[in-house]
Amino acid sequence: MRRRFRAPGRVNLIGDHTDYAGGLVLPIAVDLAVEVNVEPAERVVLSSGGRTVEVAADGTGDVEGWGRYPAAVAAELAALGRRPVGMEGDVVSDLPSGAGLGSSAALEIALALALCALADFELEPLELASACRRAELRAVGVPCGILDQAASLLGRADSALLLDCATLEYRHVPLPGTLAVIVVDSGERELADTGYADRQRELAGGMPSRVRHVETENRRVREAVAAFERNDADALGRIFRESHASLRDDYDVSTPELDRLVERAYAAGALAARLTGGGFGGSIVVLAEHDRAAAIAEQLGGRVVRASEAAREITPSKTDSRPGRA
Ligand code: GLA
Repeated sequence: MRRRFRAPGRVNLIGDHTDYAGGLVLPIAVDLAVEVNVEPAERVVLSSGGRTVEVAADGTGDVEGWGRYPAAVAAELAALGRRPVGMEGDVVSDLPSGAGLGSSAALEIALALALCALADFELEPLELASACRRAELRAVGVPCGILDQAASLLGRADSALLLDCATLEYRHVPLPGTLAVIVVDSGERELADTGYADRQRELAGGMPSRVRHVETENRRVREAVAAFERNDADALGRIFRESHASLRDDYDVSTPELDRLVERAYAAGALAARLTGGGFGGSIVVLAEHDRAAAIAEQLGGRVVRASEAAREITPSKTDSRPGRA
């Protein structure tokens, strides 16, 4: 029998380019996800959109294209002691890739959950998130932080995740029911592999504007948590504006299109808006009053997303009391 594993994408509400600097992040897992449907096999053989990839169960050997993701995840798990059990099946997704919604992390997490389950191998969520973060580097050379993987594995319905990337301590922050979250894709593909690594080097080299962004962004995450907790829309608007300006001016990861979208969001009646994720394209995140969200999303060409459950197995089974797919 095939088993199904589902891993959500994420929208970072605030706290960008802080994770790899040991700072604070505040993402939600969203109701868009990658699903892996598999049964045990000798090797890892996966089809997605008509393209099949095959890799060794321990991830060794040369692979091309998207096969680099299962290979990298399998290799990272093998390094932690997972038995080399393969799997055969397919991967489906309603999470757009390249839109800055953590689609590669969601793929890694769904694959990792499947590989672990089929080999009866257990890891704590943050160990699994760290393994998938290393897999991203191994697969495509992006030295990402742990934001996307942690959000996918630790997200909770109707809550954001406050994660301290230095200590990996976290807590969930319930979101006010009067607020809705909208994402708007700029249509510009994220160029994470170029500018992203440059910014990390500039930060590590102590470039003042880059350091200032990280310091002020960490403060804004704390302020935003307090503002969500007292449902202070005015404060959230100010904090999101400052975050966007800091990412644009101090960290230099915005684009004219992202800047325009943020202004259009405010003009359409948004309470708060900023670029989200790595920048250089991708999406903006918008907060709106619940009752006006659908209209604002339509006007901006975006979509309302819900803070959703963490990645998990969703195989239907009589003995499984966990909730199925919503
Ligand atoms: C990308 C990376 C994350 C994080 C964000 C910026 O999404 O994958 O680790 O660094 O950029 O906050």
